Amino acid sequence: MLDVAAENGPLLDRLIERASEVIRSGQYILGPEVDAFEREIAEHLGVAHAVGVSSGTDALLVALMALGIGPGDEVITTPFSFFATAGCIARVGATPVFVDIRPDTFNIDAEQVSAAVTARTCALLPVHLFGQPCDMQALSQIASKHGIAIIEDAAQAIGATSPTGPVGTLGSFGCFSFFPSKNLGAFGDAGIVTAQDAAAADAVRVLRAHGGQPKYHHAVIGGNFRIDALQAALLRVKLPELRGWTALRRENAKRYDTAFASAGLDEDSLSPPLRRFEGHVYNQYVIRTSRRDALQAHLEASGIGTAIYYPVPLHRQRCFEHLGYREGSLPVSERASRESLALPVFPGLGKTRQDRVIHTIIQFLRGTR
Ligand SMILES: Cc1ncc(COP(=O)(O)O)c(C=O)c1O
Repeated sequence: MLDVAAENGPLLDRLIERASEVIRSGQYILGPEVDAFEREIAEHLGVAHAVGVSSGTDALLVALMALGIGPGDEVITTPFSFFATAGCIARVGATPVFVDIRPDTFNIDAEQVSAAVTARTCALLPVHLFGQPCDMQALSQIASKHGIAIIEDAAQAIGATSPTGPVGTLGSFGCFSFFPSKNLGAFGDAGIVTAQDAAAADAVRVLRAHGGQPKYHHAVIGGNFRIDALQAALLRVKLPELRGWTALRRENAKRYDTAFASAGLDEDSLSPPLRRFEGHVYNQYVIRTSRRDALQAHLEASGIGTAIYYPVPLHRQRCFEHLGYREGSLPVSERASRESLALPVFPGLGKTRQDRVIHTIIQFLRGTR
């Protein structure tokens, strides 16, 4: 499914060299490596400010805190995402309001978002799922009409661009993850928050160090949300490779698209591919089939790794039972949970291995295996 060690292999000497420089420097918390990484990544993403944080989860948490979102507030989000998206809303005391996804992109359905806005809605928290940007134009219109903020969960979408601009530059905050399986992966947990507004970025900077401003003087309560200097230094080695890796992911995705389109499978065996816009960065390549579980078991038996994102939609998680969503409340997400399967799409996959994945899937779905 993924081979992070192989991805890091060609950079190993440089990574070790940079790690030993940081170790020798004695500066492990914030400092020049973090400052330089923040400048470089902001430039790379085309955003005014970037603030390094401890994870993608903490990026979301600190962005919600910076907007002062808390008890009594509602935040509209997608039920088809990694748990952190909704978990962070609940952790600040606010209520996640789930709006179903579009069947053709698996991203939040902007047309249904308007109807979910209430007097308590403080923010929209769309997720650029699998690396594909949401319809930010429609979401921005809704947000400005109602005077509410947007926090972009761009954890899976570093470098993705929507027609209105790069992800992470379009809302009040962009939240990115450097979890090792992400397109730019750290050597542990790390993340960043992006912002176009200097005051918003400053608020995150203060909150990531317990809210002390100046140090040991607290007008607000923050947390320890700092990125490690070591992670920042190592991510600086990997950042220049990101565009090339994304190009390889796109090539792999295209090869799957072409192979599946010409396989002549009926729609029940393999649903039409998700609509994929230019600007997608393919953190995941996902197919849909009513025979998902059997296909996954067959691939596993053939030595091919796959993953299910996500087997339980967020509105059906036990911890959100009190919100009152039932089976059938958000049918598109529920179906996606039953039918989606993520295939290997990582940059180093290579044609031979990918051909084997394609061949094994098509044979199985044709019933010839
Ligand atoms: C959509 C989404 N949001 C948030 C996160 C949280 O990021 P992290 O694992 O770095 O805390 C992830 C990744 O794991 C994610 O995929």
